[in-house]
Amino acid sequence: MNAPWKAGSPNGRDPFAAFICDEAALDVLRPVVIEMGWQPEKCAKGGLRNAVQSLSITASPNILMVDLSESGDPLNDINALAEVCEPGTVVIAVGQVNDVRLYRDLLASGIHDYLLKPLSSSQVRDALVGAQTVFSAPKTADGANAKRHISTAVVGTRGGVGASTLATSLAWLFATDHRMPTALLDLDVHFGTGALALDLEPGRGLTDAIDNPSRIDGLFIERAMIRANDNLAILSAEAPINAPLMTDGSAFVQLEEEFRHAFEMTVIDLPRNMLINFPHLLADVNVVVLATEMTLASARDAIRILSWLKTNAPHAVPLVVANKVQPGASEISKADFEASIERKINYQIPFDQRAAVNAAKLGQTFVDANKSAKAAAVIRDIAAGVIGSGAEDASPAAATSSAKSLLGKFDLKAIMPKKKAAEAVD
Ligand SMILES: Nc1ncnc2c1ncn2[C@@H]1O[C@H](COP(=O)(O)OP(=O)(O)O)[C@@H](O)[C@H]1O
Ligand SMILES: [Mg+2]
Repeated sequence: MNAPWKAGSPNGRDPFAAFICDEAALDVLRPVVIEMGWQPEKCAKGGLRNAVQSLSITASPNILMVDLSESGDPLNDINALAEVCEPGTVVIAVGQVNDVRLYRDLLASGIHDYLLKPLSSSQVRDALVGAQTVFSAPKTADGANAKRHISTAVVGTRGGVGASTLATSLAWLFATDHRMPTALLDLDVHFGTGALALDLEPGRGLTDAIDNPSRIDGLFIERAMIRANDNLAILSAEAPINAPLMTDGSAFVQLEEEFRHAFEMTVIDLPRNMLINFPHLLADVNVVVLATEMTLASARDAIRILSWLKTNAPHAVPLVVANKVQPGASEISKADFEASIERKINYQIPFDQRAAVNAAKLGQTFVDANKSAKAAAVIRDIAAGVIGSGAEDASPAAATSSAKSLLGKFDLKAIMPKKKAAEAVD
Protein backbone atom coordinates (compact mmCIF):
# COMPACT_ATOMS: atom_id res chain seq x y z
CA MET A 1 0.00 0.00 0.00
CA ASN A 2 2.68 2.44 0.98
CA ALA A 3 5.63 3.04 -1.27
CA PRO A 4 8.55 1.35 0.46
CA TRP A 5 11.52 3.45 1.32
CA LYS A 6 14.74 2.79 -0.51
CA ALA A 7 16.96 0.55 1.62
CA GLY A 8 19.85 2.93 2.12
CA SER A 9 18.51 6.40 2.90
CA PRO A 10 20.44 9.37 1.52
CA ASN A 11 21.81 10.49 4.90
CA GLY A 12 23.21 7.04 5.62
CA ARG A 13 20.96 6.48 8.62
CA ASP A 14 18.61 3.58 9.10
CA PRO A 15 15.11 4.59 8.14
CA PHE A 16 13.57 3.09 11.26
CA ALA A 17 14.19 1.53 14.65
CA ALA A 18 11.89 0.58 17.51
CA PHE A 19 12.37 -0.38 21.14
CA ILE A 20 9.18 -1.97 22.44
CA CYS A 21 8.66 -3.61 25.83
CA ASP A 22 6.17 -6.38 25.10
CA GLU A 23 5.66 -9.09 22.48
CA ALA A 24 2.02 -8.23 21.85
CA ALA A 25 2.94 -4.74 20.69
CA LEU A 26 5.86 -6.08 18.66
CA ASP A 27 3.49 -8.50 16.92
CA VAL A 28 1.34 -5.57 15.82
CA LEU A 29 4.29 -3.44 14.82
CA ARG A 30 6.42 -5.85 12.74
CA PRO A 31 3.96 -6.48 9.87
CA VAL A 32 3.38 -2.73 9.48
CA VAL A 33 7.13 -2.13 9.43
CA ILE A 34 7.48 -4.74 6.67
CA GLU A 35 4.65 -3.04 4.80
CA MET A 36 6.58 0.23 5.03
CA GLY A 37 9.54 -1.48 3.39
CA TRP A 38 11.71 -1.49 6.50
CA GLN A 39 13.52 -4.35 8.23
CA PRO A 40 11.47 -6.08 10.96
CA GLU A 41 14.73 -6.87 12.80
CA LYS A 42 14.89 -3.19 13.64
CA CYS A 43 12.00 -3.74 16.05
CA ALA A 44 13.89 -4.65 19.20
CA LYS A 45 12.51 -5.80 22.51
CA GLY A 46 13.24 -3.20 25.14
CA GLY A 47 12.22 0.20 26.35
CA LEU A 48 13.47 3.71 26.62
CA ARG A 49 16.58 2.67 28.53
CA ASN A 50 17.64 0.25 25.78
CA ALA A 51 17.04 2.95 23.20
CA VAL A 52 19.33 5.35 25.05
CA GLN A 53 22.01 2.66 25.40
CA SER A 54 21.82 1.67 21.78
CA LEU A 55 21.76 5.19 20.36
CA SER A 56 24.72 6.25 22.45
CA ILE A 57 26.88 3.90 20.36
CA THR A 58 25.14 3.82 16.96
CA ALA A 59 23.77 6.36 14.48
CA SER A 60 20.19 7.49 15.12
CA PRO A 61 17.51 6.27 12.72
CA ASN A 62 15.28 8.67 10.80
CA ILE A 63 12.22 7.47 12.67
CA LEU A 64 12.47 6.07 16.17
CA MET A 65 9.64 4.38 18.04
CA VAL A 66 10.18 3.97 21.72
CA ASP A 67 8.13 2.40 24.49
CA LEU A 68 7.71 4.41 27.70
CA SER A 69 5.76 1.70 29.57
CA GLU A 70 8.63 0.73 31.84
CA SER A 71 9.80 4.25 32.44
CA GLY A 72 9.05 5.69 35.86
CA ASP A 73 9.62 9.27 34.74
CA PRO A 74 8.92 9.45 30.99
CA LEU A 75 9.63 13.16 30.61
CA ASN A 76 12.99 12.94 32.30
CA ASP A 77 13.94 9.82 30.37
CA ILE A 78 12.92 11.45 27.10
CA ASN A 79 15.43 14.16 27.85
CA ALA A 80 18.11 11.51 28.30
CA LEU A 81 17.11 10.16 24.92
CA ALA A 82 17.36 13.60 23.38
CA GLU A 83 20.96 13.76 24.51
CA VAL A 84 22.02 10.70 22.55
CA CYS A 85 19.65 11.10 19.62
CA GLU A 86 20.96 12.99 16.60
CA PRO A 87 18.97 16.03 15.45
CA GLY A 88 16.36 15.31 12.82
CA THR A 89 15.15 12.01 14.23
CA VAL A 90 11.38 11.83 14.40
CA VAL A 91 10.43 10.14 17.67
CA ILE A 92 7.14 8.34 18.24
CA ALA A 93 6.48 7.38 21.84
CA VAL A 94 4.34 4.43 22.90
CA GLY A 95 2.84 4.07 26.34
CA GLN A 96 -0.07 2.95 28.45
CA VAL A 97 -0.82 6.17 30.28
CA ASN A 98 -3.87 7.94 28.87
CA ASP A 99 -3.23 11.44 30.11
CA VAL A 100 -3.53 14.52 27.97
CA ARG A 101 -1.10 16.37 30.22
CA LEU A 102 1.62 13.82 29.58
CA TYR A 103 0.75 13.88 25.89
CA ARG A 104 1.14 17.63 25.78
CA ASP A 105 4.39 17.60 27.71
CA LEU A 106 5.78 14.94 25.40
CA LEU A 107 4.85 16.97 22.32
CA ALA A 108 6.42 20.02 23.91
CA SER A 109 9.63 18.08 24.48
CA GLY A 110 9.82 17.38 20.76
CA ILE A 111 8.10 14.01 20.50
CA HIS A 112 6.22 13.72 17.21
CA ASP A 113 3.39 11.48 18.38
CA TYR A 114 2.23 9.39 21.31
CA LEU A 115 0.51 6.06 20.75
CA LEU A 116 -1.58 4.48 23.44
CA LYS A 117 -1.36 0.74 24.09
CA PRO A 118 -2.78 -1.69 23.09
CA LEU A 119 -1.49 -0.83 19.64
CA SER A 120 -3.56 -1.41 16.53
CA SER A 121 -2.17 -1.82 13.03
CA SER A 122 -4.03 1.16 11.64
CA GLN A 123 -2.92 3.41 14.48
CA VAL A 124 0.71 2.36 14.01
CA ARG A 125 0.48 2.73 10.23
CA ASP A 126 -0.99 6.24 10.50
CA ALA A 127 1.70 7.30 12.92
CA LEU A 128 4.51 5.94 10.76
CA VAL A 129 3.13 7.48 7.59
CA GLY A 130 2.74 10.77 9.49
CA ALA A 131 6.30 10.60 10.74
CA GLN A 132 7.55 9.82 7.26
CA THR A 133 5.70 12.87 5.90
CA VAL A 134 7.32 15.11 8.49
CA PHE A 135 10.67 13.62 7.75
CA SER A 136 10.37 14.07 4.01
CA ALA A 137 8.67 17.48 4.15
CA PRO A 138 10.73 20.56 3.34
CA LYS A 139 12.16 21.98 6.51
CA THR A 140 11.38 25.62 5.79
CA ALA A 141 8.87 26.10 8.61
CA ASP A 142 11.22 24.72 11.26
CA GLY A 143 13.56 26.16 13.80
CA ALA A 144 14.95 29.64 13.49
CA ASN A 145 12.61 30.77 10.74
CA ALA A 146 9.48 29.46 12.45
CA LYS A 147 6.61 31.79 11.69
CA ARG A 148 5.19 34.12 14.27
CA HIS A 149 1.82 32.84 15.37
CA ILE A 150 -0.93 34.34 17.49
CA SER A 151 -3.56 32.10 18.96
CA THR A 152 -6.72 33.80 20.23
CA ALA A 153 -9.45 32.10 22.24
CA VAL A 154 -12.85 33.78 22.33
CA VAL A 155 -14.84 32.89 25.42
CA GLY A 156 -18.28 34.15 26.34
CA THR A 157 -19.21 34.77 29.96
CA ARG A 158 -22.58 33.22 29.08
CA GLY A 159 -24.38 31.85 26.04
CA GLY A 160 -25.68 34.46 23.64
CA VAL A 161 -23.29 37.27 24.54
CA GLY A 162 -21.81 37.19 21.04
CA ALA A 163 -18.64 35.09 21.44
CA SER A 164 -19.20 33.27 18.16
CA THR A 165 -20.08 36.51 16.39
CA LEU A 166 -16.74 37.88 17.58
CA ALA A 167 -14.76 34.74 16.79
CA THR A 168 -15.98 34.54 13.20
CA SER A 169 -15.60 38.29 12.68
CA LEU A 170 -12.07 38.39 14.09
CA ALA A 171 -11.02 35.39 12.00
CA TRP A 172 -12.50 37.08 8.95
CA LEU A 173 -10.63 40.32 9.62
CA PHE A 174 -7.28 38.60 10.22
CA ALA A 175 -7.70 36.70 6.96
CA THR A 176 -8.96 39.54 4.77
CA ASP A 177 -8.04 43.01 6.10
CA HIS A 178 -4.76 41.76 7.55
CA ARG A 179 -4.11 39.09 4.91
CA MET A 180 -2.88 36.59 7.46
CA PRO A 181 -3.46 32.86 6.93
CA THR A 182 -6.01 32.09 9.64
CA ALA A 183 -7.56 28.97 11.16
CA LEU A 184 -10.93 29.16 12.88
CA LEU A 185 -11.53 26.28 15.28
CA ASP A 186 -15.11 26.08 16.50
CA LEU A 187 -15.11 23.99 19.65
CA ASP A 188 -18.85 24.17 20.15
CA VAL A 189 -18.86 20.67 18.76
CA HIS A 190 -22.63 20.10 18.84
CA PHE A 191 -24.08 23.54 18.35
CA GLY A 192 -21.30 25.53 16.69
CA THR A 193 -22.19 28.37 14.37
CA GLY A 194 -18.75 29.09 12.90
CA ALA A 195 -19.54 27.47 9.56
CA LEU A 196 -23.14 28.63 9.57
CA ALA A 197 -22.09 32.25 9.97
CA LEU A 198 -20.09 31.92 6.75
CA ASP A 199 -22.83 29.99 4.96
CA LEU A 200 -20.69 26.83 4.79
CA GLU A 201 -21.27 23.17 5.64
CA PRO A 202 -19.15 22.14 8.65
CA GLY A 203 -18.19 18.78 7.13
CA ARG A 204 -16.73 15.91 9.15
CA GLY A 205 -13.27 17.33 9.79
CA LEU A 206 -13.55 18.09 13.46
CA THR A 207 -15.49 14.92 14.20
CA ASP A 208 -12.80 12.86 12.46
CA ALA A 209 -10.10 14.69 14.38
CA ILE A 210 -11.80 13.93 17.70
CA ASP A 211 -12.26 10.28 16.77
CA ASN A 212 -8.67 9.81 15.52
CA PRO A 213 -6.28 12.26 17.14
CA SER A 214 -3.28 10.30 15.88
CA ARG A 215 -4.26 11.13 12.28
CA ILE A 216 -3.92 14.86 12.80
CA ASP A 217 -1.03 16.21 10.79
CA GLY A 218 -0.39 18.81 8.12
CA LEU A 219 -2.05 16.72 5.45
CA PHE A 220 -5.09 16.03 7.56
CA ILE A 221 -5.52 19.73 8.21
CA GLU A 222 -5.37 20.45 4.52
CA ARG A 223 -8.00 17.90 3.67
CA ALA A 224 -10.32 18.33 6.63
CA MET A 225 -10.63 22.09 6.90
CA ILE A 226 -13.29 24.02 5.03
CA ARG A 227 -12.01 27.02 3.11
CA ALA A 228 -13.96 30.26 3.43
CA ASN A 229 -11.46 32.14 1.28
CA ASP A 230 -7.79 31.98 0.35
CA ASN A 231 -6.65 32.90 3.83
CA LEU A 232 -9.38 31.51 6.05
CA ALA A 233 -9.91 27.83 6.88
CA ILE A 234 -12.49 26.52 9.32
CA LEU A 235 -12.73 23.39 11.39
CA SER A 236 -16.09 22.86 12.99
CA ALA A 237 -18.78 20.25 13.49
CA GLU A 238 -22.47 19.75 13.86
CA ALA A 239 -22.10 16.57 15.88
CA PRO A 240 -25.33 14.61 16.36
CA ILE A 241 -26.92 15.62 19.63
CA ASN A 242 -27.42 12.03 20.70
CA ALA A 243 -23.64 11.55 20.67
CA PRO A 244 -21.90 12.95 23.73
CA LEU A 245 -18.43 14.37 23.25
CA MET A 246 -15.98 11.49 23.76
CA THR A 247 -12.48 12.85 23.98
CA ASP A 248 -9.64 13.41 26.40
CA GLY A 249 -8.90 16.67 24.59
CA SER A 250 -5.73 15.40 22.92
CA ALA A 251 -7.23 16.03 19.47
CA PHE A 252 -7.70 19.71 20.27
CA VAL A 253 -4.19 20.09 21.58
CA GLN A 254 -2.82 18.38 18.50
CA LEU A 255 -4.91 20.61 16.23
CA GLU A 256 -3.58 23.73 17.93
CA GLU A 257 -0.08 22.42 17.39
CA GLU A 258 -0.65 21.85 13.69
CA PHE A 259 -2.32 25.25 13.24
CA ARG A 260 0.76 26.84 14.72
CA HIS A 261 2.78 25.45 11.83
CA ALA A 262 0.29 25.96 9.04
CA PHE A 263 -1.22 29.38 9.85
CA GLU A 264 -0.26 32.75 11.24
CA MET A 265 -3.43 33.17 13.28
CA THR A 266 -5.62 30.74 15.16
CA VAL A 267 -9.02 31.78 16.47
CA ILE A 268 -10.73 29.35 18.82
CA ASP A 269 -14.42 29.72 19.57
CA LEU A 270 -14.18 28.25 23.03
CA PRO A 271 -17.37 27.52 24.96
CA ARG A 272 -17.06 27.92 28.73
CA ASN A 273 -17.54 24.25 29.44
CA MET A 274 -14.59 23.35 27.20
CA LEU A 275 -12.43 25.65 29.26
CA ILE A 276 -13.42 23.73 32.37
CA ASN A 277 -13.03 20.28 30.85
CA PHE A 278 -9.84 20.90 28.88
CA PRO A 279 -7.82 23.61 30.60
CA HIS A 280 -4.80 22.50 28.56
CA LEU A 281 -6.41 24.09 25.52
CA LEU A 282 -5.16 27.41 26.81
CA ALA A 283 -1.55 26.39 27.21
CA ASP A 284 -0.56 27.86 23.86
CA VAL A 285 -3.14 30.62 23.61
CA ASN A 286 -1.71 34.16 23.51
CA VAL A 287 -4.86 36.25 23.81
CA VAL A 288 -8.21 35.52 25.42
CA VAL A 289 -11.08 37.69 24.24
CA LEU A 290 -13.69 37.55 26.97
CA ALA A 291 -17.06 38.52 25.54
CA THR A 292 -19.60 39.73 28.03
CA GLU A 293 -22.79 41.67 28.46
CA MET A 294 -23.27 44.17 31.23
CA THR A 295 -25.57 42.00 33.27
CA LEU A 296 -25.34 40.72 36.79
CA ALA A 297 -24.85 37.12 35.75
CA SER A 298 -22.17 38.08 33.23
CA ALA A 299 -20.35 40.16 35.84
CA ARG A 300 -20.23 37.19 38.18
CA ASP A 301 -18.91 34.89 35.47
CA ALA A 302 -16.48 37.45 34.07
CA ILE A 303 -14.94 37.63 37.53
CA ARG A 304 -14.72 33.88 37.79
CA ILE A 305 -13.30 33.38 34.31
CA LEU A 306 -10.73 36.18 34.68
CA SER A 307 -9.63 34.72 37.97
CA TRP A 308 -9.42 31.25 36.41
CA LEU A 309 -7.29 32.64 33.58
CA LYS A 310 -4.95 34.29 36.01
CA THR A 311 -4.28 30.96 37.67
CA ASN A 312 -4.44 28.62 34.72
CA ALA A 313 -3.23 30.68 31.77
CA PRO A 314 -1.18 33.56 33.21
CA HIS A 315 0.69 33.88 29.90
CA ALA A 316 -2.50 34.77 27.98
CA VAL A 317 -3.48 38.42 27.65
CA PRO A 318 -7.16 38.90 28.49
CA LEU A 319 -9.20 41.47 26.53
CA VAL A 320 -12.61 42.22 28.00
CA VAL A 321 -15.19 43.04 25.36
CA ALA A 322 -18.64 44.25 26.39
CA ASN A 323 -21.06 43.42 23.60
CA LYS A 324 -24.64 44.45 22.85
CA VAL A 325 -24.14 47.65 24.79
CA GLN A 326 -27.20 49.88 24.97
CA PRO A 327 -26.56 53.09 26.83
CA GLY A 328 -28.95 53.47 29.73
CA ALA A 329 -30.42 50.00 29.29
CA SER A 330 -27.83 47.84 31.04
CA GLU A 331 -28.52 45.90 34.23
CA ILE A 332 -25.21 47.21 35.52
CA SER A 333 -23.52 50.48 34.64
CA LYS A 334 -20.10 50.44 33.02
CA ALA A 335 -18.52 51.91 36.13
CA ASP A 336 -20.04 49.29 38.41
CA PHE A 337 -19.15 46.50 36.03
CA GLU A 338 -15.54 47.62 35.87
CA ALA A 339 -15.42 48.03 39.63
CA SER A 340 -16.70 44.53 40.16
CA ILE A 341 -14.34 42.86 37.70
CA GLU A 342 -11.55 45.12 38.96
CA ARG A 343 -10.32 46.01 35.54
CA LYS A 344 -11.31 48.13 32.58
CA ILE A 345 -13.54 46.97 29.81
CA ASN A 346 -11.18 47.07 26.83
CA TYR A 347 -13.81 47.45 24.11
CA GLN A 348 -17.53 48.17 23.94
CA ILE A 349 -19.59 47.01 20.98
CA PRO A 350 -22.98 48.69 20.62
CA PHE A 351 -26.15 46.64 20.33
CA ASP A 352 -27.09 46.66 16.66
CA GLN A 353 -30.04 44.47 15.84
CA ARG A 354 -30.11 45.50 12.18
CA ALA A 355 -26.50 44.54 11.71
CA ALA A 356 -27.08 41.14 13.30
CA VAL A 357 -30.06 40.48 11.03
CA ASN A 358 -28.14 41.69 8.02
CA ALA A 359 -25.24 39.30 8.69
CA ALA A 360 -27.62 36.37 9.08
CA LYS A 361 -29.50 37.24 5.90
CA LEU A 362 -26.34 37.58 3.83
CA GLY A 363 -24.63 34.52 5.30
CA GLN A 364 -21.62 36.66 6.08
CA THR A 365 -19.72 37.44 9.24
CA PHE A 366 -21.00 40.37 11.28
CA VAL A 367 -18.08 42.63 10.29
CA ASP A 368 -18.16 41.67 6.64
CA ALA A 369 -21.89 42.30 6.29
CA ASN A 370 -21.86 45.65 8.08
CA LYS A 371 -18.70 47.43 7.06
CA SER A 372 -19.87 50.92 7.96
CA ALA A 373 -21.56 50.04 11.27
CA LYS A 374 -20.06 51.38 14.49
CA ALA A 375 -20.15 47.86 15.92
CA ALA A 376 -17.95 46.61 13.06
CA ALA A 377 -15.49 49.46 13.58
CA VAL A 378 -15.02 48.37 17.19
CA ILE A 379 -14.45 44.78 16.11
CA ARG A 380 -11.80 46.01 13.67
CA ASP A 381 -10.13 47.78 16.62
CA ILE A 382 -10.23 44.51 18.57
CA ALA A 383 -8.56 42.67 15.67
CA ALA A 384 -5.80 45.27 15.61
CA GLY A 385 -5.57 45.03 19.40
CA VAL A 386 -5.19 41.26 19.29
CA ILE A 387 -2.43 41.53 16.73
CA GLY A 388 -0.80 44.17 18.93
CA SER A 389 -1.02 42.29 22.22
CA GLY A 390 -0.09 38.98 20.66
CA ALA A 391 2.96 40.59 19.13
CA GLU A 392 4.27 41.84 22.44
CA ASP A 393 5.77 39.12 24.50
CA ALA A 394 2.97 38.44 26.91
CA SER A 395 4.78 39.57 30.00
CA PRO A 396 3.50 38.13 33.25
CA ALA A 397 3.12 41.68 34.54
CA ALA A 398 0.75 42.60 31.73
CA ALA A 399 -1.20 39.42 32.15
CA THR A 400 -1.68 39.75 35.88
CA SER A 401 -2.20 43.48 36.11
CA SER A 402 -5.72 43.06 37.43
CA ALA A 403 -6.03 43.22 41.17
CA LYS A 404 -5.96 40.25 43.52
CA SER A 405 -8.77 38.11 44.93
CA LEU A 406 -11.38 39.09 42.40
CA LEU A 407 -13.98 36.79 43.83
CA GLY A 408 -13.47 37.78 47.41
CA LYS A 409 -14.03 41.44 46.68
CA PHE A 410 -17.08 41.03 44.51
CA ASP A 411 -20.17 42.27 46.21
CA LEU A 412 -23.16 41.08 44.24
CA LYS A 413 -25.62 42.88 46.47
CA ALA A 414 -24.02 46.23 46.00
CA ILE A 415 -24.62 46.30 42.28
CA MET A 416 -28.06 44.75 42.26
CA PRO A 417 -31.21 46.82 42.08
CA LYS A 418 -32.51 47.44 45.60
CA LYS A 419 -35.62 45.28 45.44
CA LYS A 420 -33.69 42.22 44.28
CA ALA A 421 -30.98 42.66 46.87
CA ALA A 422 -33.13 41.25 49.63
CA GLU A 423 -33.30 37.86 47.86
CA ALA A 424 -29.66 37.76 46.89
CA VAL A 425 -27.44 34.91 47.86
CA ASP A 426 -23.74 35.67 47.99
N1 LIG B 1 -23.59 43.74 18.89
C1 LIG B 1 -24.66 43.00 18.63
N2 LIG B 1 -25.86 43.58 18.45
C2 LIG B 1 -26.97 42.82 18.19
N3 LIG B 1 -26.96 41.49 18.12
C3 LIG B 1 -25.82 40.85 18.29
C4 LIG B 1 -24.60 41.56 18.56
N4 LIG B 1 -23.61 40.64 18.70
C5 LIG B 1 -24.17 39.43 18.52
N5 LIG B 1 -25.47 39.54 18.28
C6 LIG B 1 -26.44 38.45 18.06
O1 LIG B 1 -26.58 37.71 19.27
C7 LIG B 1 -26.88 36.35 19.01
C8 LIG B 1 -25.96 35.45 19.79
O2 LIG B 1 -24.64 35.63 19.30
P1 LIG B 1 -23.57 34.48 19.30
O3 LIG B 1 -22.35 35.07 18.72
O4 LIG B 1 -24.10 33.23 18.71
O5 LIG B 1 -23.38 34.28 20.87
P2 LIG B 1 -22.57 33.18 21.69
O6 LIG B 1 -21.62 32.50 20.77
O7 LIG B 1 -21.88 33.97 22.76
O8 LIG B 1 -23.59 32.26 22.26
C9 LIG B 1 -26.75 36.18 17.50
O9 LIG B 1 -28.02 36.16 16.95
C10 LIG B 1 -25.99 37.41 17.06
O10 LIG B 1 -26.31 37.82 15.75
MG1 LIG C 1 -21.39 30.45 20.35
